[in-house]
Amino acid sequence: MNQISLLRDKHILLGVTGSIACYKAIDLASKLTQAGALVDVILTQSAQQFVTPLAFQAVTGRQAYTDLWGTDAHVIHIGLGESADLFVIAPCTADTMAKLAHGRADNLLTITALAARCPLLIAPAMDGGMWAHAATQANVKTLAARNVTIAGPAEGRMASGLKGKGRLVEPAELMGHVRLMLAQANPLAGKHVVVTAGGTQEAIDPVRFISNHSSGKQGVALAQAALDAGATVTLITGPTAAARSTPVGATRVAITSTLDLEQATLAACQTADVLIMAAAVADYRAAAPADQKIKRAQMSDLSVQLVENPDITIAVANQKKQLGNPLLTIGFAAESQNLLENAQRKLKKKSLDLIVGNDITAKDAGFFVDTNRVVLVAKDGSIERLPLQSKVAVSEAVIDWISNQFSG
Ligand code: PMT
Repeated sequence: MNQISLLRDKHILLGVTGSIACYKAIDLASKLTQAGALVDVILTQSAQQFVTPLAFQAVTGRQAYTDLWGTDAHVIHIGLGESADLFVIAPCTADTMAKLAHGRADNLLTITALAARCPLLIAPAMDGGMWAHAATQANVKTLAARNVTIAGPAEGRMASGLKGKGRLVEPAELMGHVRLMLAQANPLAGKHVVVTAGGTQEAIDPVRFISNHSSGKQGVALAQAALDAGATVTLITGPTAAARSTPVGATRVAITSTLDLEQATLAACQTADVLIMAAAVADYRAAAPADQKIKRAQMSDLSVQLVENPDITIAVANQKKQLGNPLLTIGFAAESQNLLENAQRKLKKKSLDLIVGNDITAKDAGFFVDTNRVVLVAKDGSIERLPLQSKVAVSEAVIDWISNQFSG
């Protein structure tokens, strides 16, 4: 299940209310349309002071609706509301939030909100003081109690020039919320998936460390694919930039060293159904990292004594003997030679259910790049070679394999 298959032919109703952030709603409508959704837009009168229906029609290829109803006036809100898979109001002003909280129905958008049977996602946008006001906060509580999902608002500079909490969350992040809401009934719903991503770092002194080339891209893509399949996701990541980009809905646990990773993974696995170890773990650490920066003059004959780090997947397998979790453990094998043999050996040694053999010799696969070429080797002896494809597509194949284990 990827972004396209998650959104393809889904009816998304996009309500747009009067805020300077309206221009971002055009980008959101475009992103939803590009992902395959059928986007019907309703603009309030004040929204039209900032943007035009034509702008939305241009990016969605569909009619955008306003309060100037046509001959179909008496049914349009029912038709739009009934056919929607998800209603998103972005930006949502304090006024529209108040109307929604109190069941007001004085324009096409709020009438349709009353008629709709689908989940509602609102993304507030207003000045910081308006957001913090007791009346707005009471409305937030009322809407949350009715299972309305509220994305943001974000902190930062607002149109007034003041800084505070009240900015519309960015369209890319809103897409994450939309994905999360549409994934709720997918095959891994109710399952807890733990993903490790990125490389670990082992300090030599406060400045220098031993690490590897892992960017975290493969692990983050796995976390997103698990979310798209409906899972609850814990993403345990090393310190690289890509590893820090947490998909909307995942709980991120930040780690630095292998010992940190071991502790975080064992804790998360107590309730996990699935562990996916995509992290590139440092097998050794400095026996005695220096407290102070080692001076260049001391370095001419510097040698660093290393001690072996624990194998985390083996520690997880031992914990599983007592707790029973995780039900499935998936490892990765980054290999520069004898890919299949080494992957099969690690599968057994680490008591894995599946190992993803990763050829790191090619320039377009393995560390850092956006593509990967892998072979899936399962405990039952089956072997599936996948073609060169994006790390997103590799992740979907791994998540499909996991979903099949639970459906069979
Ligand atoms: O992060 P990217 O730039 O996107 O790159 C992706 C990747 C190449 C890092 C990823 O696809 C990958 O192959 N990850 C595993 C790298 C690795 O450490 O492989 P390994 O063969 O050394 O370890 C085998 C398995 O044991 C791995 O699942 C590893 O997480 C785990 N392990 C390793 C050492 C250790 N002490 N404890 C472990 O649990």
